[in-house]
Amino acid sequence: MKRVDDYRLKLGDREFVPIMIGGMGVDISTSDLSLIAAGLGGIGHISDAMVPTVSDRRYDTKYVRDKLKLYKHNVTNSNKSDVQFDLALLAEATEAHVRNTMERKRGDGLIFINCMEKLTMNGPKDTLRVRLRSAMDAGIDGITLAAGLHLGSFALIEDHPRFRDVKLGIIVSSLRALQLFIKKSARTQRLPDYVVVEGPLAGGHLGFGMDWAEYDLHTIVAEISAWIKAEQLDIPVIAAGGVFTGSDAVRFLETGVAGVQVATRFTVTHECGLPADVQQHYFAAAESDIEVNTISPTGYPMRMLKSSPAIGDGIRPNCEAYGYLLDANGSCSYITAYNRELALHPDAKRIKVMDKTCLCTQMRNFDCWTCGHYTYRLKDTSIRAADGSYQILSAEHVFKDYQFSTDDTIALPVPEYATTEA
Ligand SMILES: Cc1cc2nc3c(=O)[nH]c(=O)nc-3n(C[C@H](O)[C@H](O)[C@H](O)COP(=O)(O)O)c2cc1C
Repeated sequence: MKRVDDYRLKLGDREFVPIMIGGMGVDISTSDLSLIAAGLGGIGHISDAMVPTVSDRRYDTKYVRDKLKLYKHNVTNSNKSDVQFDLALLAEATEAHVRNTMERKRGDGLIFINCMEKLTMNGPKDTLRVRLRSAMDAGIDGITLAAGLHLGSFALIEDHPRFRDVKLGIIVSSLRALQLFIKKSARTQRLPDYVVVEGPLAGGHLGFGMDWAEYDLHTIVAEISAWIKAEQLDIPVIAAGGVFTGSDAVRFLETGVAGVQVATRFTVTHECGLPADVQQHYFAAAESDIEVNTISPTGYPMRMLKSSPAIGDGIRPNCEAYGYLLDANGSCSYITAYNRELALHPDAKRIKVMDKTCLCTQMRNFDCWTCGHYTYRLKDTSIRAADGSYQILSAEHVFKDYQFSTDDTIALPVPEYATTEA
């Protein structure tokens, strides 16, 4: 059987190991993780979700504290339309994050930024424009437009000097979404450089309804590839969602797919942003511990561990500090759900909100444990110490396992300490 390394992903006139590590917000796909992929000749993603917040943690800035100070008077007000992002500060934070990452890049691979367009930030167009343009200003190799695909995104950056040189890709889960995007951006005379086709087994938000289980990635990829061929378009297709072994990847590459985007296997690596204790929950998860639910205020179903502290947590909305999911009118469905529960239980010390979550706060605190469908197989990718804990992996180990494994085998890591089982 062939190995992933027998194939190359062609983007323009360059070739790469056909493995992309997908974007995982908020700072789960860290700079360090993306740098490993690029260093090994593949493609890594950082995420542009909540960058000012990430910057405070990574680079010791004070964006969140300062924003909260500015809007403190509004904390108990359920109308959040006053809470605006300062576009200059947003640009500053994004540029610094991207530049810091790009300056550390070594090797022949690329670093892209995953742009979650569903982060409407109380000013969807203006904030998105700033996020995209500042990433380009700071030298990002490419941008992957994700979650909530804004059909007019290319138009927001078409006058940027790097518009034709930066790699631009989109994530879709259906042929229809791809067709719509291409039609809408035709005026800019620029096609996406790649299209990530994400199936229903992915982590994060899903591009499907709650009937996600009725869809199959191989079928969608085949349909999209056939259409691209029939239209005589030259757009590499990248398959994503549930590609767990190198052989899973080869099964796509054999059909002419240009590459794969993977994420779940990297959630249990040292370079990933998830705290080590949370990573142990990912390792230990059984299939029945994982669910797709609708608690995300974005309106998209999201897959996560049922034990996520975010589920049911009725904290006061934190929009004055964060506010990334406020729509153009300053609303978020969590605020509505929270106020409803507050009115129903006026004397409760701590209310529960089951149908929605304050996603900004929960993702910022790593309390929403979003994950791919095959998270329950992570335990087969590592070894256990005498205390029962699983050994955290290196991203290089996982990347190379994808690159070189055959026959659905998964390489176990070299033990760091005494183990109970292999
Ligand atoms: C923890 C986690 C967080 C994710 N966050 C995002 C995100 O912020 N934006 C996005 O477009 N995709 C996100 N994804 C999806 C991945 O980028 C990727 O396409 C998908 O999970 C690949 O499938 P796999 O996890 O089965 O390998 C996330 C996935 C995981 C596991």
